Amino acid sequence: MGHFNDYSAEVPKRKLSNGMEIPAIGLGTFGSDKYGAEVISEAVYGAVRTGFRLVDCATVYTNEDKIGEVFKKLFSEKAVTRDELVVTSKVWNDQHREVGKACRQSLKDLGLDYLDLYFLHWPFPNYHAPHCDGDSRNPDSKPFSVDEFMDTWGQLEKLYDEGLVRSICMSNMTIPKLEAVLPLCRIKPVAIEMELHPGFQQPDLYDYCVGKGIQPIGFCPMGSPSRPERDRTPEDVADTELPSIAEAAAAHGDHPAVTCLKWAVQRGQIPIPFSIKQGQYVNNLKAAFMDPLTDSEMKAIAGDDKNCRLVKGQVFLWPGATDWQDLWDLDGTITGKA
Ligand SMILES: NC(=O)c1ccc[n+]([C@@H]2O[C@H](COP(=O)([O-])OP(=O)(O)OC[C@H]3O[C@@H](n4cnc5c(N)ncnc54)[C@H](OP(=O)(O)O)[C@@H]3O)[C@@H](O)[C@H]2O)c1
Repeated sequence: MGHFNDYSAEVPKRKLSNGMEIPAIGLGTFGSDKYGAEVISEAVYGAVRTGFRLVDCATVYTNEDKIGEVFKKLFSEKAVTRDELVVTSKVWNDQHREVGKACRQSLKDLGLDYLDLYFLHWPFPNYHAPHCDGDSRNPDSKPFSVDEFMDTWGQLEKLYDEGLVRSICMSNMTIPKLEAVLPLCRIKPVAIEMELHPGFQQPDLYDYCVGKGIQPIGFCPMGSPSRPERDRTPEDVADTELPSIAEAAAAHGDHPAVTCLKWAVQRGQIPIPFSIKQGQYVNNLKAAFMDPLTDSEMKAIAGDDKNCRLVKGQVFLWPGATDWQDLWDLDGTITGKA
């Protein structure tokens, strides 16, 4: 294990609507079916030692137990205290009817007695087998249902009441779904995780969330170059090759991946880059506070949006659905609503 400089004090913070302050950048922990739990948890150790204080976990990444061992080690070494760390987890699609059980299992695996942010990972209970291919479908899959969603959200609200989670959040939402559920929430989400990178900026959803006081958290912030095969199509655009990114990267002497993160932090979302390589995650953290992009570079990147969604979610489609676009309500209404 190498030497680590701790940059945690340099990282800007974002204030959430419930008063919590969390770092402006976090660490992803999904190995894209390419990296195993051991190597990812080792990276969590190094990244926290480097100054990452936000760690984005999920049950479906099947590594929370290993990451829990690393948290225990970091606490015992006094590298970080529990209250300095912001840990997220997410209830997976097959546990929408037993959210309390799912949360308690994540807490047990992570070795924690509370989570900082707890996410509903997808807005419907459709799931696929781990490592499945892009054409596989689960015949039990159903379209979005407001009633089922609100029943699940109610279980997250209960966990908040019990003090097991400090905040509750959503993920993979659309404006039509948010319009349907937000008025029904007793406790509003403080953050929403969504795919955000230069080639997929989602300006409407981003502005909608900001307007409602909901913090956007951006996944695949560098366009997920190592994503699984099921999330690749020939039309996909590589963010790191966009002209505005390549030009700004050259001007600052950065890797284009780092430029993507600078754009994300300066725009206002919280990017959660994944990396197991020390040289990469150190540079990723520094992107949050060193040598920012100029206004004209930010504008050029804003103009390079390709509306190119990478995590299309087609494995969650229900029988009768046309194609992956049905998951994202592109005509402004909830597609296939029960
Ligand atoms: N809520 C959701 O539904 C959802 C969905 C997807 C992801 N997420 C979360 O978001 C996190 C990030 O998304 P992601 O992992 O898919 O994509 P990503 O962070 O955009 O891409 C990660 C990959 O980028 C490369 N990379 C990282 N830092 C680099 C650097 N400084 N220079 C050059 N290359 C670099 C690495 O590739 P190599 O390993 O090949 O070097 C790494 O594996 C996930 O880990 C997960 O926590 C959430």
